Amino acid sequence: MLMPKISSPVLWHGGDYNPDQWLDRPDILEQDLLLMQKAHVNCVSVGIFSWSLLEPEEGVFNFAWLDSVIDRLYAHGISVCLATPSGARPAWMAEKYPEVMRTDAQFVRRRFGGRHNHCLTSPVYREKVKRIDGRLAERYGKHPAVKLWHIGNEFGGYCYCDLCKKAFQEWLKEKYTTLDELNRRWWGAFWSHRYSRWEQIDPPSPLGETSNPSMQLDYARFMTAQCASFIREEREAIRPFSSLPVTVNMMWDFADYDYHTLAKEVDVISWDAYPYFTGASNLKTLAEACMNHDFMRSLKDAPFLMIESSPSKVNWHPVNHLKRPGMHLTSSLLAVFSGSDSVMYFQWRKGRGGSEAFHGAVMDHSGRDDTRVFRDVTEVGDALIRLSDLKAQPLEKAKVLIVSDTENRWACLNVQTGYQGKMDPILEAHRHHQALMELGVRCDVKDMSEDTHLEDYDLVICPQLFMYREHFDKRLESYVRNGGCVFQTCFSGIVDGDDLAYLGTAPHGTAQVFGIRDPELDALYPEETITLRLATGESIPAMEICEYPEDVTADTVLGVYETDFCQSLPCFTLNHYGAGLAFYLAARVDTEALKTVYERIFRDVPVERTVDFPLPKDVVALSRGASTLIANLGAGTRLIKMTSPASDRLSGALLNESFALESGRCVVIARKQNG
Ligand code: GLA
Repeated sequence: MLMPKISSPVLWHGGDYNPDQWLDRPDILEQDLLLMQKAHVNCVSVGIFSWSLLEPEEGVFNFAWLDSVIDRLYAHGISVCLATPSGARPAWMAEKYPEVMRTDAQFVRRRFGGRHNHCLTSPVYREKVKRIDGRLAERYGKHPAVKLWHIGNEFGGYCYCDLCKKAFQEWLKEKYTTLDELNRRWWGAFWSHRYSRWEQIDPPSPLGETSNPSMQLDYARFMTAQCASFIREEREAIRPFSSLPVTVNMMWDFADYDYHTLAKEVDVISWDAYPYFTGASNLKTLAEACMNHDFMRSLKDAPFLMIESSPSKVNWHPVNHLKRPGMHLTSSLLAVFSGSDSVMYFQWRKGRGGSEAFHGAVMDHSGRDDTRVFRDVTEVGDALIRLSDLKAQPLEKAKVLIVSDTENRWACLNVQTGYQGKMDPILEAHRHHQALMELGVRCDVKDMSEDTHLEDYDLVICPQLFMYREHFDKRLESYVRNGGCVFQTCFSGIVDGDDLAYLGTAPHGTAQVFGIRDPELDALYPEETITLRLATGESIPAMEICEYPEDVTADTVLGVYETDFCQSLPCFTLNHYGAGLAFYLAARVDTEALKTVYERIFRDVPVERTVDFPLPKDVVALSRGASTLIANLGAGTRLIKMTSPASDRLSGALLNESFALESGRCVVIARKQNG
């Protein structure tokens, strides 16, 4: 199916614009347009929370203010992502139709207030949303300023109302057909939890059932399905009037819904990036942001939009730290070089009230443009103009894949074993991603579904794949047999797609591929040290969890445990299987140690590096099109030693072969030519 694409030759710079909060200040609205031009803003998201103004009473619509806003933006050369207002509903609706409000896990219906506080199942809510969406699409769907539909806002959270309960029961009937089948696959004999009528099944709740992982997994799948169908209905309400692409703004490491499913409902992927900046090294936080960028790009193997970020600080982190000088440009360009076609902010102008009055924004309450933030934002706008050629060049596919799967994540978050609170596989995936990034290796991040083609990659990394979804073992086996290389870490291949333990040898279906059998899982206290000695001579510490395989038949031992009762037991192995290679690491280790592990793997699996010189500590490099970004994410100045001088596309300065890059700063050079 051909998806609508954004028609814009430029990288977008802009963000959420809430003129509806300023309609009594035409002077400010006028100033906005001029200052947007000054800051090189070329696109804004409008109307995300405007429902109470667009439809002040049921069936009474007021579009005059939005007509004027969009027309005037267009006249100033600024494009619009037009939002549907389904992220927050007006008070009249909650008053008249209480069913639209969300019910919490204690089965208590919420009152009017907040946002994202509605039931996605409610037929009334869906009907009201479709009506306002249709009106918006009819009116603005062909406006030349409008380039993209921004559906709702940060879909998230679960509802537990009777409508959801009924729909869940129907969803289960559709999936299992008979209660016998459901009872079997939910392991219902445990604690006498068999159901004899579909109507007995409540959503999982602390008041009832929260100790059945299979059921919790299904509720997460069901809620994902409800959200997907909600988005689909919004898109369908727009389609008769507009063929423009649609997006939903996704979030950081978000586990409520499976984004792979939601991605199928939209044309363009976008997400909101709010890293936890510090004054010291930002390597970890930005490496995590980059893994999210890679994940978003991988959802459709296409450029995505960073549709929100803060131009300075946020107001909801435990410590709301300002970005240090240079960091705004650097963090923004990390997104662009990861595949984002935009740098957009929350928000253009700080409101005077509401809970976000002190969240960073381009325009502060001072209303002045001679501020550090405004200058930083203008610098980014200028950089995006200089780098606009990136937009036209096709994104290259990475050759290394990290498998990160939401269903596996749900299973790990519910499992009761190992090191409680530390079983989230995304944390393991982050460590691998950061290690690879520090080594200059670009990767995709995809799930275990059939849409992921392992054969496209030279190296497939399986970090803590506790759940092997259906057929994943067979796909992995065939990939390696046919010449692929895989690297798997501990606590993998243990449960099936119903979250039931596989019977027989573990890891399920791949024990012979890795040449290890039935590892026993151990958890380590923080003060405990178990070290691994690699065949290369280095010793690295294990942490949190490790496994002791019952039997190792892998043909090459690359590391052994050197302490505790497992002394000399292989913990890092390579097995030649068919035409491929299978590496296995039985212990969880930190990012620094993973770098050592990867350097060993790369001796057998050559991978392309972004630059042809070693990256100093805390320095990363990303390439896109014909350019390479080099960024210092550390706390101090770093000396970069390139193989030849280069010029910086941002400043125009000539960089010597060796040059000093200050903390938080970046340069963009011509990309090295490979081969
Ligand atoms: C999210 C929301 C915005 C705003 C920002 C604040 O990304 O989508 O509406 O609340 O957070 O950081």
